[in-house]
Amino acid sequence: MDAAYTIEQLRDAVTDAVRAPSLHNTQPWRFRLRDGGIEVLVDASRRLPATDPSGWGVRIACGAALFNLRLALAVAGTPARVRLRPYPAEPDVVARLVPDLPRRPTPTEQSLHAAIPRRFSNRAPFWPDPVPADARWRLAEAARAELCWLELLIGVSAVNAFAEIARSAHRVLERDPAYRAERTDWVRTEPALDGVPAAAGGPQSEPQDLLPSRGFGGLDRAPGRDFEPEPLVAVLGSAGNTAVDQVVAGQALQRVLLTATDSGLSASMLSQPIEVPGAREQLRLSLGRFGTPQMVLRIGYGQPGSPTPRRDVDEVLELPVGQ
Ligand SMILES: Cc1cc2nc3c(=O)[nH]c(=O)nc-3n(C[C@H](O)[C@H](O)[C@H](O)COP(=O)(O)O)c2cc1C
Repeated sequence: MDAAYTIEQLRDAVTDAVRAPSLHNTQPWRFRLRDGGIEVLVDASRRLPATDPSGWGVRIACGAALFNLRLALAVAGTPARVRLRPYPAEPDVVARLVPDLPRRPTPTEQSLHAAIPRRFSNRAPFWPDPVPADARWRLAEAARAELCWLELLIGVSAVNAFAEIARSAHRVLERDPAYRAERTDWVRTEPALDGVPAAAGGPQSEPQDLLPSRGFGGLDRAPGRDFEPEPLVAVLGSAGNTAVDQVVAGQALQRVLLTATDSGLSASMLSQPIEVPGAREQLRLSLGRFGTPQMVLRIGYGQPGSPTPRRDVDEVLELPVGQ
């Protein structure tokens, strides 16, 4: 047999993979070793039927986990060749990674890998300082390197037009009791290994807020502390919108987020306008771009925070009997 990954290499890489973001921190992924290759699988039991009926969010999350896996293997000196959706008859298998020729990791791989444990969603108000041009360029380049695009909304009117679309999508979603119930079910007020800790959910929203918050936490708002007046809003998009395109977009999302962390920036995600088909189309038209918007990011300089919990690696590994 050609070169093969070992259980130890799988375990080590999955420790990084599970740090990826996911809708409501559901962590909808599994990993296994088959014929010397590492496979990433969807965990369909962790899909949110009301929030994510099509499975888009699951595939974005699995793509993000796949990007971390690729980085971990590359930094360990055992880089992977990746095939997306390797078996048509097994749609739950998102990707298969087999060992490529060994090589030293690049400086970019090393710095992005080092950012994995420091990245987290920062839903608090950012400082008003603008994101400098070189950091903006790095973020757009990160998306391009993963075959996606990142459109940075420039100017108050572009951000206001986006905010209008986002708020109307938010209102549509909030009308659905099943959607609201899922969110409530995944907010954690006690220590837990999945779900969104209430303390990470951001402050209470206020009528003057430009962008809608998902409404996870509702921490009391510090008096006078409003959200940044001119947030940097970025829309990540992919060429198409097949299942594979969504996994590609998940990888690009994680590369952009890690690039932000490595640049000293904070980010939070806003996917309401992606989840409502009409809003997504309006967003696409407003950008005038080919392809499909897959995620919206708010990026800026924020207060330090801490990463949210994850389940143990053993809970997401499918090991052959006896291992
Ligand atoms: C597909 C997807 C959609 C998301 N949508 C939102 C959102 O609309 N609002 C939000 O605050 N966070 C959103 N998130 C972020 C998750 O809630 C977050 O990744 C998860 O709670 C884990 O926390 P962490 O990012 O700090 O590791 C989304 C993440 C993914 C992958």
